[in-house]
Amino acid sequence: MAISLHNSTNIPRVGFASPFLGSNSASKVSISVSLNSFSNLSFKSVETSRQQLYRISAMSKAESSSSNQVKVDISLSPRVNSVKPSKTVAITDHATALAQAGVPVIRLAAGEPDFDTPAIIAEAGINAIREGYTRYSPNAGTLELRTAICHKLKEENGISYTPDQIVVSNGAKQSILQAVLAVCSPGDEVIIPAPYWVSYPEMARLADATPVILPTLISDNFLLDPELLESNITEKSRLLILCSPSNPTGSVYPKKLLEKIAEIVAKNPRLLVLSDEIYEHIIYAPATHTSFASLPGMWERTLTVNGFSKAFAMTGWRLGYIAGPKNFIAACNKIQSQSTSGASSIAQKAGVAALVLGYAGGEVVSSMVKAFRERRDFLVKSFGELEGVKISEPQGAFYLFIDFSSYYGLEVEGFGKIENSESLCRYLLDEGQVALVPGDAFGDDSCIRISYAASLTTLQASFERIKKALISIRPAVPV
Ligand SMILES: Cc1ncc(COP(=O)(O)O)c(C=O)c1O
Repeated sequence: MAISLHNSTNIPRVGFASPFLGSNSASKVSISVSLNSFSNLSFKSVETSRQQLYRISAMSKAESSSSNQVKVDISLSPRVNSVKPSKTVAITDHATALAQAGVPVIRLAAGEPDFDTPAIIAEAGINAIREGYTRYSPNAGTLELRTAICHKLKEENGISYTPDQIVVSNGAKQSILQAVLAVCSPGDEVIIPAPYWVSYPEMARLADATPVILPTLISDNFLLDPELLESNITEKSRLLILCSPSNPTGSVYPKKLLEKIAEIVAKNPRLLVLSDEIYEHIIYAPATHTSFASLPGMWERTLTVNGFSKAFAMTGWRLGYIAGPKNFIAACNKIQSQSTSGASSIAQKAGVAALVLGYAGGEVVSSMVKAFRERRDFLVKSFGELEGVKISEPQGAFYLFIDFSSYYGLEVEGFGKIENSESLCRYLLDEGQVALVPGDAFGDDSCIRISYAASLTTLQASFERIKKALISIRPAVPV
């Protein structure tokens, strides 16, 4: 959709492609903005001012009905304007569109397992429909599922909860957003180690809180330096978000490091921790998972998030949950009661079936983890032999976050300059037809994320394509 901003009297008409809206010319809309205060501003500053204004009076009309103008105020809330759209979703959609147009793109951008939901879980969902479990379920989730979650958390994570300390949602994403909305007040700071999962900073913004990004180093396996954390805690710090195993780096926080972080957190009564453990089961020995809430003194201030999407290959079922002290969980429940209500009754039956598969998902999950590990080993070895790349071997999840920054600054004939992670991804899509996600989406522009939720054969083919595309331009400064 192309959009033009213009003032009918004295502001020149300016066209731009909206990153929010794609570029479908069939649905062209033009917006008339009556903003005389913009008249002396450049387009860039107009855009900036646009973000800052509380409301903008904007009128739209469909171009196709030029004679019969229907004027509609299409302005958006400043909250929405402050949020960036998800780059992973944008790239996945773009690659899908290319594939649908017949371009043989290999898609390694999405964050979902390539496996089907295990049959035994899927059957439980089918049976739920057959048996009439098709009505609204309790807002916080069925007692059956919350009881199964309590059992899992006790047995696998060493943390005790009662069902009223659990809220089941439509995916862990909803659980996280609700938690951030429940505990953050305007102006609060949310501490997020980078590289981070794309949604954390945006969720903080949605809560009118300020994301405070703490960089980590590839040489430290992208793990947060406790001293850096300590020096960034202020009286405004309300929430620290930890993700282990991590998306996008695959790093796993060792227990000793978590203990150090816990000691720092314990000194700050206002500071809570959201521990995103959604990749918990996708972990490669000898790495082990530690739940932050299991550490001394941390239960009272930790919100543990987990879900079914990754380990159980259930992304489409939309099922996740949060566990924590009752007052915080009751607040999450209240938000959910006024937005989506309970998760799908069918998915919840499938969730129960997933949780009774055995410790850490039993054989069903361990066979998928075995395949992920094989792929990780292949990619780490292959990319490790490429000139000009730095890798930290992932200990969990199904992503590789590779530093390709030695390729930045190169001028490529017929393409232009590779300036950053985004242009390198564009180059690799154009030249190698492999879709990857630029690291700047995760707060680290030196890297690119490769999802290895694809068959080994597909990964071998993608590696060859990437290698060919990179070899033809060679790194400017060998690392
Ligand atoms: C780190 C992390 N947390 C949470 C989620 C949300 O998962 P879902 O909403 O599918 O349960 C994702 C999905 O990509 C993720 O990578």
